[in-house]
Amino acid sequence: MGSPLDFLLSELRERGAIPFDRFVYLSLYHPEFGYYTGKRLLNSPGEDFFTAPELSPLFGRVVASFIKRKIEELSLPPVIVEVGGGKGFLAKDLIEYLNPREYYFVERRKPPWWLGGKVKWLRGLEELPGSLEGVVVSNELFDAFPFKRILKMGGELYEVFVVEREGRLAEELRPFRGELPCEPEEGCEYPFFIGWEEFFRALAGKLRRGLFITFDYGGSCREVASKRSFRAYREGRLVDDYLDGVGETDLTADVDFTRLRGLLAGAGFEEVLYKPQSSFLLENGIERFASPAELPQVLTLLVDMGRRFKVLAGQVG
Ligand SMILES: C[S@@+](CC[C@H](N)C(=O)[O-])C[C@H]1O[C@@H](n2cnc3c(N)ncnc32)[C@H](O)[C@@H]1O
Repeated sequence: MGSPLDFLLSELRERGAIPFDRFVYLSLYHPEFGYYTGKRLLNSPGEDFFTAPELSPLFGRVVASFIKRKIEELSLPPVIVEVGGGKGFLAKDLIEYLNPREYYFVERRKPPWWLGGKVKWLRGLEELPGSLEGVVVSNELFDAFPFKRILKMGGELYEVFVVEREGRLAEELRPFRGELPCEPEEGCEYPFFIGWEEFFRALAGKLRRGLFITFDYGGSCREVASKRSFRAYREGRLVDDYLDGVGETDLTADVDFTRLRGLLAGAGFEEVLYKPQSSFLLENGIERFASPAELPQVLTLLVDMGRRFKVLAGQVG
């Protein structure tokens, strides 16, 4: 295989243009050069970004204590499914504090070697056993699905496509006539994630009884649609030249929790929690788990990440 650019150009020559969600999918998940699935990311914390479990085991400890209480309250077996566990830091902390009977690690990329035989690696929810009882957890999963970019200009909606111009990738706007959960405001952009419906259908098909809990950045439909919430990061920095660094650039956008909550309810879950991550961490006693030396991480988790991130949880069965 040639370079990521060659691959994209050959697809563009065949198709003329590709919708932005296809560009995101290839950029993040192409088996050879995808940002997540290629060889770029090693498994050390904070390579290009710090997620909460990479920042500190405190996050995992608080999540574990919440899960432990829920397992007792609902008389669930100690079975954990983590979706999109990435470098495995949350898995490490949850396994340490919960000592689960099973830990299914549902990921597109291979789990780190040091998790050893403690996790069962599955590539998709469909590989889970049926009639499952337990807890399904994820951190920063939904922001990593492919998404369309729909923007509003002069009162009209447009969709971003990627095209070829003189041997380079470029963007082209085409009128958008589909349905949206939320319309962007004038001059703003709505990230329309693809694959969330299928995810919840698969989840509902597997989890007979249990809890689903997810953490991510984002807000209500209105909040997400009132800015340009699409972002591209390379080596930890926000970049604008995302068309030039395919495979080296993380593409992401804020999560529309109004839509996510609707999908969770539609999949038969009763919502038990939706709040800022900071409130969740405080209510579940983060200060009890932290040593004085961990105060800086507590502050980052509560103040910086805590306000931008939300937690959503639902019960089924
Ligand atoms: C932003 S990273 C978060 C990693 C980790 N949860 C953390 O907090 O450090 C998103 C991860 O989700 C994985 N992912 C995305 N879509 C997925 C899907 N449909 N099923 C399983 N994993 C997925 C990606 O491979 C990537 O490792």
